[in-house]
Amino acid sequence: MNSPANIPNLRFQLDNQQVTATPRPGERLSETLRSQFDARDVKIGCNAGDCGACTVLVDGAPVCACLTPTHQVDGKRVETLGGLYANDPLTQSLADRFLAHGAAQCGICTPGMMVAATALLRDTPTPTADQVEIALSGVLCRCTGYRKIIDAVVGLPPMAQTAPDATSETNTIGAPIPRLDGREKVAGTEAFGDDVAPAGTLEIILIRSPFARAGFTLGDLPAFQAATPGLVAILTAADVPGLNRHGVIPGFIDQPVFAEDETRFRGEAVAAVVLTPEAATTFAPDHFPITWQERPAASDIQTAQHPDTALLHDGHEANVMCGGLVSTGDADAALARADIVVEGTFQTGFVEHAYIEPEAGFARMHNGRIEVSACTQAPVMDLDTLEQVLGMDRTKIRVIPTGVGGGFGSKLDVSVQPYLAIAALKTGQPVRLCYSRTESMQSTTKRHPSDITLKIGATKDGRLSGFRFDGLFNTGAYASWGPTVANRVPVHASGPYCIADYHAQATGIYTNNPPSGAFRGFGVPQSAIAQESLLDVLADRLGMDPLDLRLLNALDNGTPTVCGQIFDQGVGIKPCLTALRPAWDSERAAANSFNADPANIAKGLKRGVGIASGWYGCGNTSISNPSTIKSGLRADGTVVLHQGATDIGQGSNTAITQIFAAALGVPTRKIHRLSGDTDVTPDAGKTSASRQTFISGNAAHLSGLALRAAIIERLNIAPDAALTFEPGQVSARDAAGTQVLDLSTLPEDAEGYVLSASETYDPPTKPLDANGQGIPYAQFGYAAQLCTVQVDTRLGTVTPLKFVAAHDVGQAINPILVQGQIDGGIAQGLGLALMEEYIPGRTENLHDYLIPTIGDVPPIETLIVEVPDAHGPHGAKGLGEHVLIPSAPAILNAIARAAGIRITQVPATPSRVQAEIKKANL
Ligand code: FES
Repeated sequence: MNSPANIPNLRFQLDNQQVTATPRPGERLSETLRSQFDARDVKIGCNAGDCGACTVLVDGAPVCACLTPTHQVDGKRVETLGGLYANDPLTQSLADRFLAHGAAQCGICTPGMMVAATALLRDTPTPTADQVEIALSGVLCRCTGYRKIIDAVVGLPPMAQTAPDATSETNTIGAPIPRLDGREKVAGTEAFGDDVAPAGTLEIILIRSPFARAGFTLGDLPAFQAATPGLVAILTAADVPGLNRHGVIPGFIDQPVFAEDETRFRGEAVAAVVLTPEAATTFAPDHFPITWQERPAASDIQTAQHPDTALLHDGHEANVMCGGLVSTGDADAALARADIVVEGTFQTGFVEHAYIEPEAGFARMHNGRIEVSACTQAPVMDLDTLEQVLGMDRTKIRVIPTGVGGGFGSKLDVSVQPYLAIAALKTGQPVRLCYSRTESMQSTTKRHPSDITLKIGATKDGRLSGFRFDGLFNTGAYASWGPTVANRVPVHASGPYCIADYHAQATGIYTNNPPSGAFRGFGVPQSAIAQESLLDVLADRLGMDPLDLRLLNALDNGTPTVCGQIFDQGVGIKPCLTALRPAWDSERAAANSFNADPANIAKGLKRGVGIASGWYGCGNTSISNPSTIKSGLRADGTVVLHQGATDIGQGSNTAITQIFAAALGVPTRKIHRLSGDTDVTPDAGKTSASRQTFISGNAAHLSGLALRAAIIERLNIAPDAALTFEPGQVSARDAAGTQVLDLSTLPEDAEGYVLSASETYDPPTKPLDANGQGIPYAQFGYAAQLCTVQVDTRLGTVTPLKFVAAHDVGQAINPILVQGQIDGGIAQGLGLALMEEYIPGRTENLHDYLIPTIGDVPPIETLIVEVPDAHGPHGAKGLGEHVLIPSAPAILNAIARAAGIRITQVPATPSRVQAEIKKANL
């Protein structure tokens, strides 16, 4: 690491040790701490001082280590979370509070949050919420919605009333136990994608297109390599051993690993260089020998569909990727006979996932096999892709998921994995790759922009009569999950309402933009903006209370959905709406009195309360999507759970373990959990579509019951006997007495288990016909939210003041996790409504692309509704996507109530709000 150019003998105190460092001139403290002192608790989310994940204390003051030149800490004291957690009782106590409140979800921001909070608490032991917001304002979190972090730092009583480790004794479904994998997160020891490569590993740098569409010619690559010290290998499309394509939907595998003759979006990779770490620090991608020929690009849906525009992919006329349709009754006839018809057009833009962990990973050759460790939501899908791209038997490939610092859908697609695998194969050496923030934002998937036209009719008494929805979705340069969006949106565009005459179609359009993919809701949040906004317009035209209109038309047990599906139980939208009634009345009364105050009128401040509903089918649409969960009992009495439902912060490591523990009859703390390593854990499917609690949860339930049955059978004891797992034995007690199973008497299998159980659950669905009729999902979850906002009619700013969120989760397996999902989803819905818009070439970092900060998310009151589902484990329903579907339309409806304007293009930036106010002459 040392070189003549390095600064020698720089000394500082790192936690409670004096250390000597040899940084390069200008080297950042974050890099020094990670590379020279293995301080991997210092997370790098942006390398630009925007996210705060790398926050450390220098002489007691919080700083971004990525903005601090290492030479500036000479003679100073540097404290990281690892040191604070080991040495400072204040941080240890804070860690317990973070766990008890569920303030760490994925955990990638947690080191920055806890370090900044420690600095605050040293000076201000009992801070107010406002003081916490100020002190933590430099650290971004994409998962939690911040409210539980504030509660933890302030020191409010948590939902869990007992100490974190003691509560994990209980098996009770519904117990608010702290997340079982939380200790590593609050200690800063969880290893994410960029934390697993050993020091000295070769580095990969990708060469990317600077244009939305361009031809290119590679120069003399051997000469370039020979002239570049430390350049170990160059990779291009010619180096892809198998198929130079990846994707996620059969029939739509259309994205090259390396572009072959033309790039289709800004940031697309055309080549990679593999360098020694020293060479990587000085490599300039601009010097790579390539010439570009910029070509006219289809930057939006309208351009892409113009007859003169070049096709992005052969066989897709007018750049139409594919479409989806649900039709029942006669929508046009119903609209024609409706007493009132409302219609509108709505636009949404690209939304960036903005997880704080950029895509990262490590690969090596090991015993003749390739091993890829990376952050992922779908390890077995990654294996499927690598099998194709490498042209290699899948038994020669191992995928080892690392911790995931947020995913929200984008880490369902491969990113770094093919490059890592190809580079390790070509060089035979370990390699690492971590996307910069800009690379991450340029090249990974986004939420689909949408152009939606909608018409809704109603009778005079408020019954919906006719619904016609037409949505165009910008799927970017490659399909990714676009076909899923096209199929899912028409099923959900009705909202959770009974509509007999319905026609909804969604079409994905290729454009020269980054691929749009999966992002929490698969297009449904976009369609809900249109549908829930127009329902409010309809309520006004009818002179009806918006809540009453929704209740009147809400689905119920026994009423058909627009796909003709009828549920006998579990339809929970009416209970959600009913639960909101008290807050709906009180919040509107408070807003009315605020608006009547002359002082507020003089300031141009107006308040309004908006409401919106949502529903979401859990799991894949109309196709098989099984999960398998395996468990085993070792001779020493250890219970092992192969938990392959990737935990990206939502809590599957905890919820699935709780379900399994309850079925087996063992405390959760006694379970040894294995991750989704494809060598050791069966496929629990991808973490998407709100499927893990429902589908993997059912598989875990079955696995626990099967392992229990195997024990019961050997002891010939009552099926409901209480089991106690002890070293080397299991004892079972029923009314007749206690029996003991001596585990040493049982033969071990190849994995060292004396008993094991592997169980699979696949939800019962049926294919949709040509009109979208059938059984798309075995279960839906339901939601209704209200939001109070304040609009500054002079500045056009919108300030959410409060959310009340009623969510039907069937059965809350763990209320801490439920609240965490709701808070985090609302924060993302707030961003969608008010501030987030990804514009290629303009908002490619977390400085220009705004996500909600700790000061942006107002208090959230959660109302957990439990209407048991027929298929969910213990009646539980999925929740992950549902949480942001009503949030944006509730905000837009609140703006309309406050300011009398209807925003139809999000985000509702101050300039758009001001323009609408001007247009309305208010
Ligand atoms: Fe904060 Fe995931 S917990 S970013």
